[in-house]
This record gives sequence, C-alpha cells and structure tokens, in this order.
Amino acid sequence: VKVAVIGAGIMGSGIAQISAMSGYDVAMVDTNTPALERGLSEIDTSLARFEKSGKISAAERKVSRTRIHATLSLEDAVAGTEFVIEAVPEVLDVKREVFARIATAAPTTAVLGTNTSQYSVGAIAASLGAESSRVIGTHFFNPPVMMKLVELVVGSSTSTETVERARSYAESLGKEVVVCRTDTPGFIATRAYAAFRLECVRMLEEGVASAGEIDKALRLGFGLPMGPLELGDFNGLDTFLYAVSSLAEAYGERFAPTAGLVEMVAAGRLGRKAGAGFYTYETPSQRPFS
Ligand SMILES: NC(=O)c1ccc[n+]([C@@H]2O[C@H](COP(=O)([O-])OP(=O)(O)OC[C@H]3O[C@@H](n4cnc5c(N)ncnc54)[C@H](O)[C@@H]3O)[C@@H](O)[C@H]2O)c1
Repeated sequence: VKVAVIGAGIMGSGIAQISAMSGYDVAMVDTNTPALERGLSEIDTSLARFEKSGKISAAERKVSRTRIHATLSLEDAVAGTEFVIEAVPEVLDVKREVFARIATAAPTTAVLGTNTSQYSVGAIAASLGAESSRVIGTHFFNPPVMMKLVELVVGSSTSTETVERARSYAESLGKEVVVCRTDTPGFIATRAYAAFRLECVRMLEEGVASAGEIDKALRLGFGLPMGPLELGDFNGLDTFLYAVSSLAEAYGERFAPTAGLVEMVAAGRLGRKAGAGFYTYETPSQRPFS
C-alpha cells in the first residue's frame, strides 16, 4: 500500500518514516532538493537511533529506508496512493493550492489528510466540491515517530468512511486516535493545553511564583516531562503567541495573550532560539534550572 507525504520538513519526514517502518511504500515530496535531502538525513539519523536502542534490527532499518522514495513531483508522488498526508507550512493559501493539485492527481479512492495545527479542515478543502468528503485532519504530534497521539479532525463535509479509513491508517502506525467531531480551532489537545499554559504565564506575571517554581510544580504535580514555561521557550514564544492569538479570535477573551507575552515577543525574547525567554540560555540545547 502506498502513502504520499507532501512536505519533507519536521512533521513530513517523521510521518514518512513511521509509515515506512509500519510497512507502507512512501513517496515523500518537497519543492526543492535540499529540503528532501534534509528530510532523508533526519530519517537516517532517527532510524539509526532506533537501531542503536534495539527497537529495530539493522535489516529492519534498511528495509524501512528503501521503502521511502523522495521526489520533486507531487503528481508522481500521489499516483496510486491510498493515503496522502499534507505537511506543508501552516499557510492557508499554500495548503489550498496543494490540495487542489492532490485532488486532481490522486486516485479518487485516496484519503486526503492534512496535518494542519489550527486551520479548519473545511477552509482547506473549500474549493474541492464533492472531493472534500475525502479530506480529514490528521494531526500528528512532534516528533511523529515517538508521539502516540493522532487527532482526527472531522470537517463538515468529511465522510464517515474517510474517518474510519484514516483511523485504520493511524492505528496501523501504532498510534492512538482521538476524533475531534467538530472542525474547531485548536482541536482537543492544543486548545486545552493553550489555556493551561496561558494560566502559567498569568501566574508568573502576577508574581505568584518564579518560572522555575511554576514549572517544577507542574512537572512534579502532574508528571509532565517539561514545565509549560520551559516548553514555551523550547517551541518559541512567537509560535505560542501566534497560536493563542488565533484561538482568541475563535473563542474570545479567555485566550487573549497577556501583555507580558506580547512584550517579550516584541523585544525578541523568543525562548531558546533567541538565548532568552522565560529563562536565559547560554546554548540553544541547554535546559533551564527548574
Ligand atoms: N512542528 C510541529 O511541532 C508541528 C506539530 C503539529 C503540526 N504541525 C503542522 O505540520 C505542518 C508542517 O509543519 P513542519 O513543522 O513540518 O514544517 P516545516 O517547515 O519543517 O516543513 C514544511 C516543508 O514543506 C515544504 N513545502 C513548502 N511548500 C510545499 C509545496 N507546495 N509542496 C511540497 N512541499 C512544500 C517546505 O519546503 C518544507 O520542507 C504545518 O501545518 C504545521 O502547522 C507542526
């Protein structure tokens, strides 16, 4: 069975890898050769790590790798597929254009998944007419090879058959599936976690406790691998601000970013990548004391 993954970035390369490790033939497509090479190199590094930790054998590593074919042609990639997963950047016009091409070139039986973090599935599929019944949100978490969860997001036109086929595909990758039955921003996990993270930022700004104490409380109190503030620094506070701002557009004041968060982003305190966020970093890979 053939899967096509559109976009060879962080998410696309991971989805291609886990699909190949689960026995699918995978076509991974990007717009330029360096991006494809980067994606393949990420896959090689990750497969080597799986082998080193004894999770797969050398033979399984090689077989998985040979199942992945990189190409610059979206049309070639989607030919003969049963599942197409789009993982191009979070820009609505780019996603719409990609879906128009996929819908024309893929078999009429293929399930068409989008890995969008926050756009409505309906908005992405808007111009596809009857084809939109095959479009569904397939929201993998980062890194896709490790994270167990896939949220399926049901658009207003998505058919029941599409939901069930997408579920079988995700489960065949060893994932656990949750279904978000309405096409609403943030789906289930991101929406809930954004509210929780914002409350931590508010506590910090109100002087309730230091960043280190808030993160420690949440890590040890709820068994989180990383505190919410540390995670904000890790992912980039510009990304967090963008996410809560668009949730605020959908749900109102309860997701309004705090003044402090807006100021930090304006001042370039974006987290690890900038050397400073809620914590300061001497190197991007350093973990703060918390
Ligand atoms: N990174 C995360 O933590 C994460 C988690 C969940 C969902 N997502 C979502 O997954 C999607 C991809 O995110 P990412 O982090 O992998 O992005 P990325 O920037 O790492 O990768 C995107 C890739 O798509 C390629 N691309 C751009 N236009 C293309 C086109 N027309 N055809 C084919 N390839 C094209 C780019 O060259 C790039 O290699 C986004 O919608 C994002 O919101 C990301």
